[in-house]
Amino acid sequence: MNAPTEAQTLAALQTAPAGAASLARPVPGAPMWLLAELTYKCPLHCVFCSNPTDYAAHMSELSTEDWLRVFREGRAMGAVQLGLSGGEPLLRDDLEVLVAEARKLGFYINLITSGIGLTEKRASALKEAGLDHIQLSFQDSTKELNDFLSSTRTFDLKNKVAAIIKSQGYPMVLNCVMHRYNLPQVGRIIEMAESMGAEFLELANTQYYGWAWHNRAALMPSHAELIEAEKIVDSHRARLAGRMKILWVSPDYYDAKVKPCMAGWGSLFMVIAPDGLALPCHSARMLPGFDFPNVTEHSIASIWRDSDAFNRYRGTSWMSETCLSCDEHPKDFGGCRCQAFLVTGSAEATDPVCPKSPDRHLIDEAIAVADAAASSSLTAQPQPLRFVAGAAKGGGMLFRTDANSRTLVDAVPGALEIATPHA
Ligand code: FES
Repeated sequence: MNAPTEAQTLAALQTAPAGAASLARPVPGAPMWLLAELTYKCPLHCVFCSNPTDYAAHMSELSTEDWLRVFREGRAMGAVQLGLSGGEPLLRDDLEVLVAEARKLGFYINLITSGIGLTEKRASALKEAGLDHIQLSFQDSTKELNDFLSSTRTFDLKNKVAAIIKSQGYPMVLNCVMHRYNLPQVGRIIEMAESMGAEFLELANTQYYGWAWHNRAALMPSHAELIEAEKIVDSHRARLAGRMKILWVSPDYYDAKVKPCMAGWGSLFMVIAPDGLALPCHSARMLPGFDFPNVTEHSIASIWRDSDAFNRYRGTSWMSETCLSCDEHPKDFGGCRCQAFLVTGSAEATDPVCPKSPDRHLIDEAIAVADAAASSSLTAQPQPLRFVAGAAKGGGMLFRTDANSRTLVDAVPGALEIATPHA
């Protein structure tokens, strides 16, 4: 599963009433964007998956009735956008029922999928049920790298699914998570999207949470690689103007400003995890010191308005002096709490991506390591364009597998299984 991206954030902001994310108002009007993570199960094993690394400890799932109640409550509060995600949401055989009810309630419904399980019959049933939008993920434009990064043989299947989506009259919306391995191929990824008739391509530079956090050293590109890739994106963007929109999700470690994560904690987004835990973002589950409420015990309204979890980082009272004294905080809402925790160990810290953060050196050190790795691989040998069996071991990447997740749950140091792609 990919995290809600800049495009989704922008879409939600565009539909939000003026001032919805205002810091002056401690409790915003409504969770405009509801993201329903229907299941943590997934046939893919992506190294950058944003699901929690301990997902194996949280495999229970809400019933159909529970989800329908959540949708009704969310819509009654004013939610307008509903994302159906996972794991792989197509693994839920009640997906059509959920979509039909969400449609009746008046949601704009987006399915965020790897495409695995989307047959012609199912796509047509989902269309009939009222699904508005499908976002299909690819890992690369080549079969070798696509299959390597997900550790599954899925590239050919995804191509078939793309054709099915097109034939059903959906807008073709592709998403590709970008990192050191596929940035050199960004031009080919754009050409692949073009050949598929995509109207929209999101090139989502990796954000380092979940499995991507564990694999950061292997995935992080150098600054030079990013600059080169962005130039290529710009030239294709100009060439394809009016035909295909390309979104380049900013690689935030390299940005001069922090991102307004989730448009502010508890301002617009509510994520419901498969087991019913309500979260202000897709990563918050790993933050210590929280008792996140569950929709099986509390209403959406009380969770949104009254829970400590959703109130903790609203407004400005929690902010460090660095953020409080900065003119940017009404725009960036203090940045990302999960990033602050992962990098500095404190969720209250100034987002370390900010140049004013006392911890900015931690980001600069990670960039320096990525730059050094890129220059040593350039002098040693040309960048491999194709998957080489066993490369995962050499790269030290941790694939999203149930076995690895269980190991992380048990936190046995050094016991992680470094998965290799299927032979
Ligand atoms: Fe959790 Fe940014 S991802 S606050």
